[in-house]
Amino acid sequence: MTYVVTSNCVDCRFTDCVSVCPVECFHADDKMLYIDPDECIDCGACEPECPVEAIFEDGQVPEEQQEWIAKNAEAAHLPVITDKEDPLPTAEARKKELGL
Ligand code: SF4
Ligand code: F3S
Repeated sequence: MTYVVTSNCVDCRFTDCVSVCPVECFHADDKMLYIDPDECIDCGACEPECPVEAIFEDGQVPEEQQEWIAKNAEAAHLPVITDKEDPLPTAEARKKELGL
């Protein structure tokens, strides 16, 4: 079991999730974050922290977001992020667009 970051994170990168994670399993590119399934200890702390509801436990990922399970696993080579950063400049607009 692991937790998975899905498409709502794209263009947001709020990073609230990172600040509560007890291990170093978040990886980042310039658009979003990903969770390394081999490092995630399934604590669930990150899920309620995301302002755009992008994080799901792997068994709960919605049908249309299933591709993100593999995409998170494939992103483990990206740099690790352990501290909260400013959201992307597009984050608030994207959040509004998502109706959140
Ligand atoms: Fe980190 Fe826990 Fe979220 Fe896994 S479930 S990414 S260990 S906060
Ligand atoms: Fe992305 Fe939500 Fe974390 S927008 S960076 S999954 S808090």
